[in-house]
Amino acid sequence: MLEVEGLTKYYPSGVIRKQYAKAVDGVSFKIGKGKTLGLVGESGCGKTTIGRLILRLIEPTAGKVLFDGIDLLALKRKELRAIRSRMQMIFQDPDSSLDPRMKIGTSIAEPLKLQGATPKDKIGQKILELVETVGLHPEHINRYPYQLSGGQNQRVVLARILAMNPDLIIADEPTSSLDVSVQAQILNLMMDLQSTFGHTYLFITHDLDVVRIMADHIAVMYLGRIVEIGKTHDIFNGAKHPYTHALLSAAMMEPAAGQRERVILKGETPGPTDIPAGCRFHTRCIRREEICMLKDPETVEVGDGHYVACHFV
Ligand SMILES: Nc1ncnc2c1ncn2[C@@H]1O[C@H](COP(=O)(O)OP(=O)(O)O)[C@@H](O)[C@H]1O
Ligand SMILES: [Mg+2]
Repeated sequence: MLEVEGLTKYYPSGVIRKQYAKAVDGVSFKIGKGKTLGLVGESGCGKTTIGRLILRLIEPTAGKVLFDGIDLLALKRKELRAIRSRMQMIFQDPDSSLDPRMKIGTSIAEPLKLQGATPKDKIGQKILELVETVGLHPEHINRYPYQLSGGQNQRVVLARILAMNPDLIIADEPTSSLDVSVQAQILNLMMDLQSTFGHTYLFITHDLDVVRIMADHIAVMYLGRIVEIGKTHDIFNGAKHPYTHALLSAAMMEPAAGQRERVILKGETPGPTDIPAGCRFHTRCIRREEICMLKDPETVEVGDGHYVACHFV
């Protein structure tokens, strides 16, 4: 359904010497229809940039994005506009997605009118349906965003997205700004919506616990590149990349007896303008050997749909 190949985004930086911030550096993955890919990695590793590149909100330096086999980067502006409504993005902060001067009902009516599939005299009914679908009450329709909680506003954002009837939803840390108890409710709602409507998710987060429940597959990113990708079960039970091990052990409260030992990452993450030569993770890797400083590892398949970029697999 969605296929990304060698996606790359370099930002020019540096005034005197020509330098680049390599925000995304050759990323490839596929997501099947109705499935969820979790994209995880530390802040600054390029997750949001990937989301924006897929929607072509920014132009890539290189690479391909295929949506249902259609090459999005080859489309003209008008063709792109037609297909873009089938892809929607939800962000961390619902307040920045909602117009504070617009009542909730008006806000949900907007995409309905834009989408055009609902006759004018049925829009009121459709708004009621959507409000109910996302777990809000009819009385919310006449309120303003400031009168609702963060969780309720994120439900409004979801109603607006559903009004467009999308095939792909890119969720960029959709629960990071919410209280922990509310986070679980929104995640459950998002999963319920997927089983009802069958859309595909690219679910972006820095939180492994979140993708563990949400995702069918997980891609782990480090400094603009995917270092490991595989089925959620295989990532949690048979991770191969030292960086994935480190993320997993940081996420675990207590490693169970006999399980992998805690790996604590040392040192700072380098910036996207000074990506280390060889394997980009070598400056922080506990398994580092000479080859890691010299050669960028190839991505190799280690199991069914399980790929790792490390010299020691
Ligand atoms: N417009 C831009 N110009 C220059 N650098 C950028 C720009 N947007 C993002 N970056 C850089 O690209 C890297 C990846 O950013 P981002 O995709 O937002 O990461 P994440 O979402 O994983 O936190 C960061 O180092 C960021 O500073
Ligand atoms: Mg981000």
